[in-house]
Amino acid sequence: MLLKSALTRAALASATTAAVGRTTSVVLTGSTRLVPSTTTAVKRLQRSHAASTAAANGAADDVVAELNASSLVETLTDSPKPKPTIEGLAFGTKFSDHMLTADWTHTTGWAAPEIRPLENFSMHPASCVLHYAVECFEGMKAYRGDDGATRLFRPDLNARRFQRSASRISLPAFDEDAFVQLITRLVAVDRDWVPEGEGRSLYLRPTMIATQAALGVAPTTEARMFCIASPVGPYYAKGFAPVTLLADPTYTRAWPGGVGFTKCGGNYAATLMPMNEATTKHGCEQVMWLYGEEELVTEVGTMNLLMHWINEQGVEELITAPLDDMILDGVTRRSTLDLARNWGEFDVREAYFSMPQLLRALDEGRVKEIFGVGTAATVSPVGGIVYKGEKYEIPLARGNIGHVGDRIKDELFDIQYGRKQHEWAVVVPEQ
Ligand SMILES: Cc1ncc(COP(=O)(O)O)c(C=O)c1O
Repeated sequence: MLLKSALTRAALASATTAAVGRTTSVVLTGSTRLVPSTTTAVKRLQRSHAASTAAANGAADDVVAELNASSLVETLTDSPKPKPTIEGLAFGTKFSDHMLTADWTHTTGWAAPEIRPLENFSMHPASCVLHYAVECFEGMKAYRGDDGATRLFRPDLNARRFQRSASRISLPAFDEDAFVQLITRLVAVDRDWVPEGEGRSLYLRPTMIATQAALGVAPTTEARMFCIASPVGPYYAKGFAPVTLLADPTYTRAWPGGVGFTKCGGNYAATLMPMNEATTKHGCEQVMWLYGEEELVTEVGTMNLLMHWINEQGVEELITAPLDDMILDGVTRRSTLDLARNWGEFDVREAYFSMPQLLRALDEGRVKEIFGVGTAATVSPVGGIVYKGEKYEIPLARGNIGHVGDRIKDELFDIQYGRKQHEWAVVVPEQ
């Protein structure tokens, strides 16, 4: 054991050295491809986090391998599928030719990741994910720019959030740089699946599941990370038409000390019944999630919610709930706040406001606009709120969409579709 540990440590050390700051060749079936490799100080922190997660899951630190993009193995399909027509395509129902997978065990760490033809998984019916929802995921997009280049949008933020979600449910840690490299590579392999046209993209769904076959409620000793890709058009068939929200204090999406700040699958399962009620009983498109006796406004559907208003002190501001353990740290939320702060035209504040405050502001004509933001829909204007049986109209400056939401959408699209050079848009290298 001593010898094995020492050897493994030496092998890991040399693998890490070999990966530093240069292009690393990858062994592939049939051909050799190049995968760029980087290293940062953050990686060292991630390594120690990986070791401590493994230790918490019962592993010996010194035999755990990191997720390593330079050991990627690619097996490409020899029968590519026809691409679907995007017009009228339901969100996330067609999938590209390939997927990324990487398996982990608590004793060996991460095995070599693979890009291979999309196929069904086979797993034991006792796998933890099937019983205790030990699962987390991400949602990100690859965009085909007007210049033909393919871009990811702030993938480092998705990597960080994925890591936080995994950690909260005792799934293994991973090297975030390696994750981004692997996602980038998957997009490069399936780049023909990135549709052209504004509002269209290749939606990426990185996921991690607990695969250990054991019914005891305990941290898993086996896991799989994977990513699938789905060409999509605009999230709402009606485009940027305003949505009506059901604000029902009966239901709570997240609570202090809970997992609302993560993208764990269970968070979403619990929203399905209220969402169904919102659509079928109240004619609303989404649920506006309230919290506690004060009825704090937290999020909307699967989006962060922002309000442009004149606050109670008479100050014009854009306000959204602060990042605590109830609020998802949305990439679009963060980007919206950054852009709006950059305009310098009004205050931008991360603080809670309550449903009574919102109703008072509506009554006094102080609400300028309310909108949701998220990767799937980008910006979703709110046209009305149903609360305790009454419908409240929300002002929309420009017919279908408010002034700030419209401007945010345009600026984000300009970056995502490559019309404006920006550090947030990461170009996927040509194969
Ligand atoms: C609960 C929740 N809030 C907000 C968001 C928006 O996050 P992002 O902008 O990263 O897509 C999402 C979608 O991921 C979500 O599921």
